[in-house]
Amino acid sequence: MSPVDGAGISNPNLPVDIAVTKGRVPGRSEEQIPELHEVDCPPELRERIEGLMARYPDRRSASIPALWAVQERYGWCTPDGIRQAAAVMRFTPADLESVASFYDLLHTDPVGTHRIEVCTNISCWMRGGDELLDAFVAAGEGADVHITGFECLGACDIAPMASIDQRYYGPLEAAEAATAIEQLNAGADVLPDKALAARPLAGDTPPPTGRNREPESRNRPIDGEVRGG
Ligand code: FES
Repeated sequence: MSPVDGAGISNPNLPVDIAVTKGRVPGRSEEQIPELHEVDCPPELRERIEGLMARYPDRRSASIPALWAVQERYGWCTPDGIRQAAAVMRFTPADLESVASFYDLLHTDPVGTHRIEVCTNISCWMRGGDELLDAFVAAGEGADVHITGFECLGACDIAPMASIDQRYYGPLEAAEAATAIEQLNAGADVLPDKALAARPLAGDTPPPTGRNREPESRNRPIDGEVRGG
């Protein structure tokens, strides 16, 4: 096999680089791709994944949102769920497992119903991120919640912060961890005063009229969107 250049074009004059000439295109056979009738994929999941694939010129680009759809349905990326997605996308399960196991926000083992990521990167760490993580871990003992430290979640201006069920909260006091866990267990609104979605953004100065009015959809979640990680 001739080495390939950056555009993927075979060029015998380039030095051989094992990193680009081996393993880039995994060998697979059609037999390794499960058939839809073998995997019992729920119709809603199939339709959602097909809709995601239709957004991209290369269906591989839909791998992460498709796995996110699997995770939303089953709570984590179960082997059966991955096989179902693989059958819809015409990939092998191993193709999707390699993606799922790479990203921290995709879980290949069972996790709790609620997920909390506490940022411990530099801005949050300097403002007590480690203590906040410890407080969440202590408060979450025995609760149906998956708690983990995380690198920068991209909301350094509200450090120290945490993502709770994909919503951002901050700045948080360690003492608020127990309150958040209690509210999660009770199915209540979590720390409403600390929710990023409730905070005004730069430029949100009244009156919101005329040309400066912000579009109402700005804080609306986008289907398939994964924040952070
Ligand atoms: S360092 Fe915590 S959000 Fe950036």
